[in-house]
Amino acid sequence: MRDLLTDEAFGEALIEARDLRIGRNGGTLLDVAHLALDGQGPTVILGPNGAGKSLLLRCLHGLIAPDRGQVRQNGALLNAAARARQAMVFQKPVLLRRSVAANLDFVLKRQKLTRSDRKARIAVLLEEGGLSGKARQPARSLSGGEAQRLAVLRALASAPDILFLDEPTSALDPAATQDIEAMVLRAARRGTRIVMVTHDIGQARRLGHDIVLMQAGQIAEHALAHDFFDSPQSQAARRFLAGALVL
Ligand SMILES: Nc1ncnc2c1ncn2[C@@H]1O[C@H](COP(=O)(O)OP(=O)(O)OP(=O)(O)O)[C@@H](O)[C@H]1O
Ligand SMILES: [Mg+2]
Repeated sequence: MRDLLTDEAFGEALIEARDLRIGRNGGTLLDVAHLALDGQGPTVILGPNGAGKSLLLRCLHGLIAPDRGQVRQNGALLNAAARARQAMVFQKPVLLRRSVAANLDFVLKRQKLTRSDRKARIAVLLEEGGLSGKARQPARSLSGGEAQRLAVLRALASAPDILFLDEPTSALDPAATQDIEAMVLRAARRGTRIVMVTHDIGQARRLGHDIVLMQAGQIAEHALAHDFFDSPQSQAARRFLAGALVL
C-alpha cells in the first residue's frame, strides 16, 4: 500500500492536507483523507454546526496539530516562516486593548517599517476599512461591524499570502456583512489567497470560487462553485442546498 505520508504523495498545491485526523474520547472529530487548495480561490468551507469546519481551518493554518496527517504549503511542511505569511480572522474579533491605530501599528512594527511609513500605511488601511475617523478610539469600543473590519484590516496589514477567515460575518447585519465581503474580495483581487468558513449559502455563492462541504468531520464534496451549486454530486450537498436541517 502506498504510504500517504511520503513526499511523493504530495504535489505542489498551495495548501494540501493528507490523512488529517483528530479524535477525542474514542470518537473522530476530523477525518480528511485529502484536500488540495489550488488556483486563485476564494475557497469557501461550508457545512452545518459541528461539522468540523473550524477544526479543519485551524489545522490548515497550523494553529492546532492533528493527531495524524500533514498540511503542506507549496509542497513543504508548514513552518514558522510560511505561517508568518498567513493570517486568520475569527468569528469574534480579537483586538488589543489599545486604540484602533495602535492595533494596526502592532502588526506593522513586525515588518520593520519606519515610523512614517507605518503612519502612512495605517492611514491607507483605515481608509480601506472605513475607519479613518476612528484612529484614536479604543478598539474595544467599536461596534461589532467596525471591530470585525478592524480585525480584517489587521490581518491584511501584513499582506499575507493566505488569509483564513472563520465565520467572520456570522454576528453581523447584512450591511456590515457586505463591507467585510467587499474587503475580502479586494484582498483576493490583490493576490491574497482566501480560505473562508461560513454556513451561509448566500455568502458561499457570492464569494466562492470553489466550495468544500464538510459533514460530520469529513469532506462530503469539494467542487468548483458553479458545479457545486448547479449539479451537486453528493447527497450531503443536495440536502444542504435544499435546506435540510440534518444532512
Ligand atoms: N477541543 C475539543 N475537544 C473536544 N471536542 C472538540 C474540541 N474542539 C472541537 N470539538 C468538537 O469537534 C466538532 C467539530 O467542531 P468545529 O468547531 O470544527 O465545528 P464547526 O463546523 O466549526 O461548527 P460551527 O458552525 O458551530 O462553528 C464539534 O462537535 C466540537 O464539539
Ligand atoms: Mg466553527
